[in-house]
Amino acid sequence: MIVIAQVSDIHVDGGQRSADRTRAVMRYLEELPYDLAAVLVTGDIADNGTADEYAAVPALLTSRHPLLVCPGNHDDRAAFRKVLLPDDTEARPYAPVNQVLRGEGFVVALCDSSVPGKDEGYLEDETLEWLDGVLAGTPHEVPVLVAFHHPPVPLHTPYVDEIRQFGAERLAALADRHPHLRAFLAGHAHTAAATTFAGRPLLVAPGVDSAIRLPWENPGPDSPHVHRDLPPALAFHVLDEDGGLTTHYRTVTV
Ligand SMILES: [Fe+2]
Ligand SMILES: [Fe+2]
Repeated sequence: MIVIAQVSDIHVDGGQRSADRTRAVMRYLEELPYDLAAVLVTGDIADNGTADEYAAVPALLTSRHPLLVCPGNHDDRAAFRKVLLPDDTEARPYAPVNQVLRGEGFVVALCDSSVPGKDEGYLEDETLEWLDGVLAGTPHEVPVLVAFHHPPVPLHTPYVDEIRQFGAERLAALADRHPHLRAFLAGHAHTAAATTFAGRPLLVAPGVDSAIRLPWENPGPDSPHVHRDLPPALAFHVLDEDGGLTTHYRTVTV
Protein backbone atom coordinates (compact mmCIF):
# COMPACT_ATOMS: atom_id res chain seq x y z
CA MET A 1 0.00 0.00 0.00
CA ILE A 2 1.40 3.36 -1.10
CA VAL A 3 -0.12 6.39 0.63
CA ILE A 4 0.44 9.86 -0.82
CA ALA A 5 -0.92 12.97 0.88
CA GLN A 6 -1.97 15.97 -1.17
CA VAL A 7 -2.19 19.41 0.40
CA SER A 8 -3.17 22.41 -1.70
CA ASP A 9 -3.71 26.15 -1.75
CA ILE A 10 -2.12 27.22 1.50
CA HIS A 11 -2.03 30.89 0.35
CA VAL A 12 0.57 32.04 2.87
CA ASP A 13 0.03 35.80 3.15
CA GLY A 14 2.03 36.88 6.18
CA GLY A 15 -1.05 36.61 8.42
CA GLN A 16 -1.70 34.35 11.36
CA ARG A 17 -4.68 32.59 9.81
CA SER A 18 -2.96 31.03 6.78
CA ALA A 19 0.08 30.12 8.90
CA ASP A 20 -2.06 28.45 11.58
CA ARG A 21 -4.08 26.45 9.08
CA THR A 22 -0.97 25.29 7.19
CA ARG A 23 0.76 24.38 10.44
CA ALA A 24 -2.27 22.36 11.59
CA VAL A 25 -2.31 20.31 8.37
CA MET A 26 1.44 19.70 8.35
CA ARG A 27 1.42 18.79 12.06
CA TYR A 28 -1.36 16.27 11.43
CA LEU A 29 0.77 14.62 8.72
CA GLU A 30 3.84 14.76 10.91
CA GLU A 31 2.08 12.94 13.73
CA LEU A 32 0.67 10.09 11.63
CA PRO A 33 1.90 6.72 12.87
CA TYR A 34 2.83 5.81 9.28
CA ASP A 35 5.50 6.86 6.80
CA LEU A 36 3.86 8.43 3.76
CA ALA A 37 5.34 7.79 0.33
CA ALA A 38 5.05 11.52 -0.41
CA VAL A 39 3.40 14.77 0.53
CA LEU A 40 2.46 16.87 -2.50
CA VAL A 41 1.59 20.54 -2.18
CA THR A 42 -0.18 21.51 -5.38
CA GLY A 43 0.23 25.25 -5.68
CA ASP A 44 -0.94 28.64 -4.48
CA ILE A 45 1.81 28.63 -1.90
CA ALA A 46 2.33 32.39 -1.47
CA ASP A 47 -0.86 34.41 -1.77
CA ASN A 48 0.76 37.31 -3.64
CA GLY A 49 3.98 35.61 -4.78
CA THR A 50 6.17 38.05 -2.82
CA ALA A 51 9.63 37.38 -1.38
CA ASP A 52 8.35 38.18 2.12
CA GLU A 53 5.59 35.59 1.86
CA TYR A 54 7.97 32.92 0.54
CA ALA A 55 10.41 33.63 3.36
CA ALA A 56 7.84 32.22 5.81
CA VAL A 57 7.11 29.08 3.79
CA PRO A 58 10.08 26.77 4.56
CA ALA A 59 9.30 26.87 8.29
CA LEU A 60 5.66 26.00 7.57
CA LEU A 61 6.20 23.33 4.92
CA THR A 62 8.51 20.98 6.76
CA SER A 63 7.90 17.26 6.73
CA ARG A 64 9.51 14.00 7.73
CA HIS A 65 7.89 12.52 4.59
CA PRO A 66 9.26 13.22 1.07
CA LEU A 67 7.82 16.65 0.18
CA LEU A 68 7.23 18.12 -3.28
CA VAL A 69 5.77 21.55 -3.91
CA CYS A 70 4.60 23.05 -7.22
CA PRO A 71 3.50 26.58 -8.13
CA GLY A 72 -0.05 27.82 -8.77
CA ASN A 73 -1.46 31.00 -10.26
CA HIS A 74 -0.76 32.97 -7.05
CA ASP A 75 2.91 32.02 -7.18
CA ASP A 76 5.88 33.68 -8.85
CA ARG A 77 8.17 31.13 -10.46
CA ALA A 78 11.38 33.06 -9.82
CA ALA A 79 10.62 33.81 -6.15
CA PHE A 80 9.29 30.25 -5.65
CA ARG A 81 12.51 28.77 -7.07
CA LYS A 82 14.78 30.96 -5.02
CA VAL A 83 13.28 29.94 -1.68
CA LEU A 84 11.73 26.51 -2.23
CA LEU A 85 14.22 25.02 -4.71
CA PRO A 86 17.56 26.50 -3.63
CA ASP A 87 19.50 23.70 -5.36
CA ASP A 88 17.69 24.12 -8.67
CA THR A 89 20.19 24.52 -11.53
CA GLU A 90 17.70 25.97 -14.04
CA ALA A 91 19.26 29.13 -15.51
CA ARG A 92 15.91 30.65 -16.57
CA PRO A 93 14.12 31.98 -13.48
CA TYR A 94 10.72 31.87 -15.23
CA ALA A 95 11.08 28.41 -16.78
CA PRO A 96 8.31 26.01 -15.69
CA VAL A 97 8.97 24.27 -12.37
CA ASN A 98 8.58 20.57 -13.23
CA GLN A 99 9.63 17.86 -10.78
CA VAL A 100 9.53 14.10 -10.60
CA LEU A 101 9.52 11.78 -7.60
CA ARG A 102 10.47 8.20 -8.41
CA GLY A 103 9.32 6.20 -5.40
CA GLU A 104 9.20 2.48 -4.77
CA GLY A 105 6.38 1.19 -6.98
CA PHE A 106 5.12 4.59 -8.15
CA VAL A 107 6.12 7.82 -9.87
CA VAL A 108 4.71 11.30 -9.33
CA ALA A 109 5.24 13.88 -12.08
CA LEU A 110 4.52 17.33 -10.70
CA CYS A 111 3.90 19.68 -13.62
CA ASP A 112 3.85 23.47 -13.56
CA SER A 113 0.48 24.58 -14.99
CA SER A 114 0.96 28.21 -13.96
CA VAL A 115 1.32 30.94 -16.58
CA PRO A 116 3.40 33.94 -15.44
CA GLY A 117 1.13 36.97 -15.05
CA LYS A 118 -2.13 35.07 -15.54
CA ASP A 119 -4.62 33.23 -13.36
CA GLU A 120 -5.61 30.59 -15.88
CA GLY A 121 -3.46 27.51 -16.40
CA TYR A 122 -1.68 25.95 -19.37
CA LEU A 123 0.99 23.27 -19.71
CA GLU A 124 3.73 24.73 -21.89
CA ASP A 125 5.04 22.57 -24.75
CA GLU A 126 8.26 22.23 -22.79
CA THR A 127 6.34 20.78 -19.83
CA LEU A 128 4.43 18.31 -22.00
CA GLU A 129 7.72 17.17 -23.60
CA TRP A 130 9.20 16.74 -20.14
CA LEU A 131 6.16 14.74 -18.99
CA ASP A 132 6.29 12.60 -22.13
CA GLY A 133 9.90 11.78 -21.26
CA VAL A 134 9.06 10.91 -17.64
CA LEU A 135 6.29 8.54 -18.78
CA ALA A 136 8.40 7.00 -21.53
CA GLY A 137 11.20 6.42 -19.02
CA THR A 138 8.93 4.62 -16.54
CA PRO A 139 8.24 0.87 -16.94
CA HIS A 140 4.60 0.16 -17.77
CA GLU A 141 4.00 -1.78 -14.58
CA VAL A 142 4.76 1.33 -12.50
CA PRO A 143 1.76 3.67 -12.04
CA VAL A 144 2.39 7.36 -12.69
CA LEU A 145 0.36 10.07 -10.98
CA VAL A 146 0.41 13.39 -12.84
CA ALA A 147 -0.16 16.37 -10.55
CA PHE A 148 -0.53 20.09 -11.25
CA HIS A 149 -2.35 23.12 -9.88
CA HIS A 150 -5.09 23.82 -12.44
CA PRO A 151 -7.78 21.17 -13.13
CA PRO A 152 -8.18 20.65 -16.89
CA VAL A 153 -12.01 20.41 -16.82
CA PRO A 154 -14.82 22.58 -15.40
CA LEU A 155 -15.96 21.46 -11.93
CA HIS A 156 -19.24 23.37 -11.42
CA THR A 157 -17.17 26.02 -9.67
CA PRO A 158 -17.90 29.05 -11.89
CA TYR A 159 -15.27 31.33 -10.35
CA VAL A 160 -12.52 28.73 -10.87
CA ASP A 161 -13.80 27.13 -14.08
CA GLU A 162 -13.03 30.36 -15.94
CA ILE A 163 -9.39 30.11 -14.87
CA ARG A 164 -8.96 26.35 -15.23
CA GLN A 165 -6.22 24.68 -17.28
CA PHE A 166 -6.69 25.35 -20.99
CA GLY A 167 -5.17 23.53 -23.96
CA ALA A 168 -5.89 20.26 -22.16
CA GLU A 169 -6.55 18.30 -25.37
CA ARG A 170 -2.73 18.17 -25.73
CA LEU A 171 -2.47 16.50 -22.33
CA ALA A 172 -5.27 14.07 -23.20
CA ALA A 173 -3.45 13.09 -26.40
CA LEU A 174 -0.27 12.50 -24.42
CA ALA A 175 -2.18 10.36 -21.90
CA ASP A 176 -3.46 8.18 -24.74
CA ARG A 177 0.12 7.15 -25.48
CA HIS A 178 0.92 6.15 -21.89
CA PRO A 179 -1.42 3.57 -20.35
CA HIS A 180 0.44 3.62 -17.04
CA LEU A 181 -0.61 7.24 -16.44
CA ARG A 182 -2.94 6.21 -13.61
CA ALA A 183 -4.59 9.46 -12.46
CA PHE A 184 -4.45 13.25 -12.49
CA LEU A 185 -4.24 15.27 -9.26
CA ALA A 186 -5.07 18.97 -9.08
CA GLY A 187 -5.72 21.81 -6.64
CA HIS A 188 -6.85 25.40 -7.37
CA ALA A 189 -10.59 24.72 -7.01
CA HIS A 190 -10.59 24.84 -3.17
CA THR A 191 -13.00 21.92 -3.02
CA ALA A 192 -12.61 18.16 -2.55
CA ALA A 193 -13.83 16.88 -5.91
CA ALA A 194 -13.54 13.78 -8.06
CA THR A 195 -14.22 13.52 -11.78
CA THR A 196 -12.49 12.12 -14.86
CA PHE A 197 -10.19 13.46 -17.55
CA ALA A 198 -8.76 11.55 -20.51
CA GLY A 199 -10.36 8.37 -19.19
CA ARG A 200 -8.57 8.60 -15.83
CA PRO A 201 -9.62 9.76 -12.39
CA LEU A 202 -9.08 13.49 -11.87
CA LEU A 203 -8.86 14.03 -8.11
CA VAL A 204 -9.01 17.55 -6.76
CA ALA A 205 -7.57 18.37 -3.34
CA PRO A 206 -9.47 20.78 -1.11
CA GLY A 207 -7.90 24.10 -0.13
CA VAL A 208 -6.14 24.61 3.17
CA ASP A 209 -6.86 28.34 3.11
CA SER A 210 -10.56 28.35 2.20
CA ALA A 211 -13.34 26.41 0.47
CA ILE A 212 -15.10 27.56 -2.68
CA ARG A 213 -18.81 28.24 -2.37
CA LEU A 214 -20.60 25.83 -4.69
CA PRO A 215 -23.46 27.24 -6.82
CA TRP A 216 -26.10 25.41 -4.76
CA GLU A 217 -24.62 26.86 -1.57
CA ASN A 218 -24.61 30.40 -2.86
CA PRO A 219 -27.31 32.56 -1.24
CA GLY A 220 -26.97 35.37 -3.78
CA PRO A 221 -24.85 36.99 -6.49
CA ASP A 222 -23.15 39.35 -4.02
CA SER A 223 -22.07 36.70 -1.52
CA PRO A 224 -18.36 35.94 -1.20
CA HIS A 225 -17.11 33.20 -3.51
CA VAL A 226 -15.34 31.33 -0.69
CA HIS A 227 -16.15 29.98 2.76
CA ARG A 228 -13.47 31.01 5.21
CA ASP A 229 -15.03 29.34 8.24
CA LEU A 230 -14.80 25.70 7.10
CA PRO A 231 -11.81 23.72 8.42
CA PRO A 232 -8.67 23.09 6.31
CA ALA A 233 -8.65 19.74 4.52
CA LEU A 234 -6.40 17.45 2.51
CA ALA A 235 -6.47 14.31 0.35
CA PHE A 236 -4.86 10.89 0.70
CA HIS A 237 -4.33 8.88 -2.49
CA VAL A 238 -3.78 5.16 -1.88
CA LEU A 239 -2.26 2.92 -4.54
CA ASP A 240 -2.65 -0.84 -4.16
CA GLU A 241 -0.32 -3.46 -5.59
CA ASP A 242 -3.11 -4.68 -7.87
CA GLY A 243 -3.43 -1.24 -9.46
CA GLY A 244 -6.34 0.00 -7.32
CA LEU A 245 -6.50 3.68 -6.44
CA THR A 246 -8.60 5.07 -3.59
CA THR A 247 -8.79 8.68 -2.44
CA HIS A 248 -9.80 9.78 1.05
CA TYR A 249 -10.44 13.33 2.16
CA ARG A 250 -9.79 14.60 5.69
CA THR A 251 -10.49 17.83 7.53
CA VAL A 252 -8.08 18.99 10.22
CA THR A 253 -8.79 20.90 13.41
CA VAL A 254 -6.85 24.16 13.74
FE1 LIG B 1 -5.92 28.81 -4.50
FE1 LIG C 1 -5.16 28.73 -7.84
